[in-house]
Amino acid sequence: MKLKVLVTPGDGIGPEITAEAIGVLQEATQAGGHTLELDYKRIGGVAIEQDGTPLPADTIAAALDSEAVFLGAVGDDKFNALPASTRPEAGLLGLRAHLGGFANLRPVFAFKELTVNSPLRPEIIDGTDIMFVRELLGGLYYGKPRGWDKEKGVGLNTMIYTRGEVERVARTSFQLAQKRRKKLCSVDKANVLEVSQLWRDTVIEVAKEFPDVELEHQFVDAMSMHLMKRPRDFDVVVTENTFGDILTDEASVITGSLGMLPSGTIGGKIGLYEPAHGSAPKHANKNIANPLATILTGAMMLRHAFGLDAEADAIVKAVRKVLEAGFRTQDLARTNPEGLTVLGTREIGAKVRETVKELLK
Ligand code: IPM
Ligand code: MN
Repeated sequence: MKLKVLVTPGDGIGPEITAEAIGVLQEATQAGGHTLELDYKRIGGVAIEQDGTPLPADTIAAALDSEAVFLGAVGDDKFNALPASTRPEAGLLGLRAHLGGFANLRPVFAFKELTVNSPLRPEIIDGTDIMFVRELLGGLYYGKPRGWDKEKGVGLNTMIYTRGEVERVARTSFQLAQKRRKKLCSVDKANVLEVSQLWRDTVIEVAKEFPDVELEHQFVDAMSMHLMKRPRDFDVVVTENTFGDILTDEASVITGSLGMLPSGTIGGKIGLYEPAHGSAPKHANKNIANPLATILTGAMMLRHAFGLDAEADAIVKAVRKVLEAGFRTQDLARTNPEGLTVLGTREIGAKVRETVKELLK
């Protein structure tokens, strides 16, 4: 099978971590007799500098012509003075809208070897396995009206959802729950916001199609606390765009590092696969960035975009084996460096790659 993938490395550590992930993907797909057909385009800050826009037209065209888009990260502090609509991040938000994926899957699970890195106690986090579904195309991120009237001193964003937008992401979440532990937690702020009342009402309606899934509701403020106190109790969690952005960064504490959180967006014409972390410009070009979230994101792409479960499983297993063997990037070795070998971005990428080769032999 040919796998046509557009790679948009983006800013900061983006190019380094995508290079390692692509190396691993090449190994895994070759072993299964598949060919990765790669194209590369610019997005974010690099595109602002070279093309004058964070999302050039040829990037959109190439993305729409691919079967999946694999993104590194966007953003750089040097663009902080720009209005939101022309910043690097606007390129990513535009790309998400073009691709049409509305369900951003962010799996949060703790590798045993990394629980020591979490400020939470092992007895709280051991065994945590949550699938966050962050609604990605609506809510506060895209709602109109929006704007900043500098003269009047008024800034405005709108959290808006239609019933249809909630239905589709709820349905995807129930379906995921059916394949897991059959529990869905919907997170909203229905005690205050009308948009959340619509959200909750719609999720309850959709639940009738899935009588085998146990549904609970949490307010987002309470959820941020439950996540830290009893993360093991959650299976699939579905929530609004901004709530999901915030809660998944919080949940990354469970995995020991934001550098371990992959993500994949499904439901649209073309899937978008990107690690949940940012571009970390101050760590760029030093061979210290952690490529593991991006490598795990590659596994999600093989699974969800191409149905290559065996290859995806091999990648996840390879990451686990590399951690078991005591290899870490520096961000994962700070708390308890005893007995660990700290590797650079390229070196840990090579370890995962070798291990994938071994596993798929
Ligand atoms: C994420 C990031 C993005 C978001 C930024 C870079 C636009 O924080 O993927 O979580 O807010 O969605
Ligand atoms: Mn985020």
